[in-house]
Amino acid sequence: MDKIIEQTDIDRVDGIQKVTGTAKYSAEYDFPGMVYGVLATSNITKGIINAIDTKAAENAPGVLAVITHLNCPELPGYKSTPEQDKLVPTKKGYKVFADNIIRFNGQPIAIVVADTFERATHAASLIKANYTKEKHNTDFDEAIKSGTPLEGNNFKEYVRGEANAWINAPVKIEAEYTMPIEVHLPMEIHGITVVWDGEDKVTLYEKTQSLSGTQRNIVRTFGLKEENVRIITQFIGGAFGSAFNTWPHSMAALIAGRKVGKPIKLMLTRNQMFNLVGYRPEAKQKLGLGASADGKLMGITHEAIAMTASYNEFTEGIVNGSRSLYECPNVNTTYKVFPLDLSQPTWMRGPGETTGAFALESAMDELAYALKMDPIEFRLKNYAETDLERKKPYSSKYLKECYELGAEKINWKERNPEPRSMKEGDWLIGYGTGSGIFSAWRGAAKAVAKLLPDGTMILQSGVTDMGPGTATAMTNLAAETMGLSHTKISFEMGDTNLPPGPMQGGSGTTSTLGTAVFAACENMKKKLAAMIKDNAVFHTEIVHEVKVEDLVFENGYMMLKTDKTKKISYAEVIKSAGLSELEISEDSKGNPMLNHSAFSYAVHFVKVKVHSKTGVIKIDRAVSAVDAGKIINNKTAESQIIGAVVGGIGMSLMEEGVIDHRYGRWVNNNFADYHVAVNADVPNIEVLFVDKPDPVLNPIGAKGMGEVGIVGFAAAVTNAIFHATGKRIREIPVTADKLI
Ligand code: MOS
Repeated sequence: MDKIIEQTDIDRVDGIQKVTGTAKYSAEYDFPGMVYGVLATSNITKGIINAIDTKAAENAPGVLAVITHLNCPELPGYKSTPEQDKLVPTKKGYKVFADNIIRFNGQPIAIVVADTFERATHAASLIKANYTKEKHNTDFDEAIKSGTPLEGNNFKEYVRGEANAWINAPVKIEAEYTMPIEVHLPMEIHGITVVWDGEDKVTLYEKTQSLSGTQRNIVRTFGLKEENVRIITQFIGGAFGSAFNTWPHSMAALIAGRKVGKPIKLMLTRNQMFNLVGYRPEAKQKLGLGASADGKLMGITHEAIAMTASYNEFTEGIVNGSRSLYECPNVNTTYKVFPLDLSQPTWMRGPGETTGAFALESAMDELAYALKMDPIEFRLKNYAETDLERKKPYSSKYLKECYELGAEKINWKERNPEPRSMKEGDWLIGYGTGSGIFSAWRGAAKAVAKLLPDGTMILQSGVTDMGPGTATAMTNLAAETMGLSHTKISFEMGDTNLPPGPMQGGSGTTSTLGTAVFAACENMKKKLAAMIKDNAVFHTEIVHEVKVEDLVFENGYMMLKTDKTKKISYAEVIKSAGLSELEISEDSKGNPMLNHSAFSYAVHFVKVKVHSKTGVIKIDRAVSAVDAGKIINNKTAESQIIGAVVGGIGMSLMEEGVIDHRYGRWVNNNFADYHVAVNADVPNIEVLFVDKPDPVLNPIGAKGMGEVGIVGFAAAVTNAIFHATGKRIREIPVTADKLI
């Protein structure tokens, strides 16, 4: 632990490029001879393709190739090994065009390549498949009734103390909470541009949160050398977890591009975004909570049931937050997953915890009412000072400060706790709260810093930025650490030719990459100090050798601490040494956190207005207080939480994926029918940071904040609706029809 950074907040370094439209996204690269790929997709849900007629498509104007399972080239990664053959179906996965099996409605059955996008789209519409249908099930309720949950290590029961202890508590509640499929739907639709150089070398512009993960997947599937697979992702227009996987459409574009030997571009349609790039799984959760009459938790039982695809076991930590958010001696949790004939779910903002906290934080509110206790007071009464699940102290925990900051801001103490007691004209007023927890961690990363003879610095790391402002935060951090104006620092990212960076996700990018950037800057200062140790500028009568501890680094100069007039610029040092650049490469290791348990926290407060006659719900105020450790850049950090809260508004009031189970097909796979929060739904969101450094996790003191900003928000809304109306709605989204 070196030191904690002091910082000022710089503007988003790529802001101008983004708002002026010069930032390039993956489907915006053009090359001479570019061709376009369009997918044809299945219109049955389960079965096999008996025959596929591609003649009309092949003969359509401008078409260069049509690829299906019948003519897809043999790929090294498609060969099944004896080990893979032994896997259960839910672990086998799905490889595009590898076989004639249909696993979900809308599965790609062909890719058509043509000289224009319109011609490819037209030709794709001419493809006809003949199927043998099998009986499918896409209905979660039906699967729970008559299906079998998956088995294995991911589904072990957790018991601490006594199981189901809540039943014997003097005050108790039991309730079931349900939530539907939710879809990420970033503004930027997933797209890819592929440029093959022969059969063995490829460059792709791909929407991905993980450059190295994408590179690995392509190396494996196509049997290529790592150095022959270059991934470039300069900008991402949002992803929220939908861009970790290398999805079937990307593999299809790669296969097609190699076949036709031309640069190819493929962009999904908005409705394909609903079933080809993952979604948050539907879930049902039962909570049993019990407490002593004075409000001490005696038992928590959290049972969650979720769904996955028949070909892919996706799991997430839905029940994990319930094990450690509160101090409770008796906790048991179960987690079950049923396979359905749908495309696979994936991580979506605050994966697991967002789903789990909706249930836990609703149940906490219900129990607080049963106890006739204030919901915040109840949480404080059960504040966990150590992590009882892992039996470890916290690296840092400022959840108490979050309760206080948020309650103060929304004026919580002025609320009348009685449900349906507060009114403004025809509107019923309600206040609610919900808390969030999300693991903080730090992975391994590499960063390179180069100081140039003109006094500017270049930072490099092969990371991507889906919007949180990674380049801005890293520039901010480097400017403060180096004592150099941020205008003299540029951050190069988004390319596998750069030193391998971390993935963007899991709320770990700043902690992980920041550690490497900080270490690179610190070592750069040591190196600079060593280069000038004999420099006469710093000599006094008694001192003839300066050490790094004797110096301050400010505004591009090394200065003697005791006499700042004795100074030399970094540029001067590099120039006089005759160097073209001074390079520091830093490999920072992940932190296994052996002795501590690390989490970020959020407490959300919401004021809702519910129209007494129509049931229309408006979020009037949203205050989120967050402990994410030290804040590196307040502007981008605030935006990050605002974005999470907007997602939380959608989750609690609007978002719901609807599937017609007769056909296994999406009903509302477009922005007209799948509602997300828009400007009119979003109040002024007030974000408060505790802004205290975590002294253990990393030397920069930052935890993570991408996920925790949405965790617990939906419960804050439903709890506020209960306070306003006296109606406890346990099924999100809460729409007006559920209130009248
Ligand atoms: Mo996030 S679900 O790690 O993009």
